[in-house]
Amino acid sequence: MTRAPQLRPLGAALGTEVLGIDLAKPLDADTFAGIAAVFAEHPVLVFRDQSLGAPELAAFGRRFGTPRPHALTKYRHIDCPEVSWLTNVEETGQIDWYGVKRATAWHTDSTFEDALPLLAMLHAKEVPSEKGGTMFADMRAAWDALPDARKQLLSGLTGLHGRTSGPAGERLYGDDKGATDKKYEEVKWPAVTRHPVSGRSILFVNPMHTHGFVGMKREEAWPLIDELAAHATQERFVYYHRWRVGDVLIWDERATMHRGAGDYRPDERRIMLRTIVYPN
Ligand SMILES: [Fe+2]
Repeated sequence: MTRAPQLRPLGAALGTEVLGIDLAKPLDADTFAGIAAVFAEHPVLVFRDQSLGAPELAAFGRRFGTPRPHALTKYRHIDCPEVSWLTNVEETGQIDWYGVKRATAWHTDSTFEDALPLLAMLHAKEVPSEKGGTMFADMRAAWDALPDARKQLLSGLTGLHGRTSGPAGERLYGDDKGATDKKYEEVKWPAVTRHPVSGRSILFVNPMHTHGFVGMKREEAWPLIDELAAHATQERFVYYHRWRVGDVLIWDERATMHRGAGDYRPDERRIMLRTIVYPN
């Protein structure tokens, strides 16, 4: 049995609020099945007014798959390594003014890894007084709207992915790559993929990690990656999430790209818990 939850659309393109769910309590199987069914069609879901600790967030993640520790070791939650902090507050209590700029280029998480995440979750603990949103682009709608010639070209292409080696990654980070606990090889993914539940085609190219295509010269590939990113991030495909404390937001890591809006005052605190879930 599936118990369909009540929904409220948040954005014209995507973004869907799920009503009447308390994630601090264990969800019964029917309720969870209802959420999972909705998520297959609506790749950004928001649950308002939640109050979860790291273990509870990880437990919600475990209903979908396997939450994994984040690559950046310094942000891992001390009690629960599958949950990490997304914060601009240093251990000393000082605010990192660069925090506002972090992850502000469009990307899909971890496409430079050999296994792709299913979804990610953020839980807002402290938010700036205004702005500081997260933006999501619907890569299914972006694919559907591509001209046929582009669809044909992309159907035969395999993307090359690195950590920050795409055009937007280079522009944002340059040589500052951050400390991780492993080295990455170049990873290949088809430029178009299918959603495993809905079967919809998804444009799977992102300007942070995709830095080329097999058999294509860089001079050709980079403008194509930039063109596809510009196409996919038109307002008609994008949802800007305005955070409230207590929001738990989950997004489909295959069907969307995202970025920090980078638009809040850099001296204001912004603290979230995050977990990234992989298929079992
Ligand atoms: Fe991200």
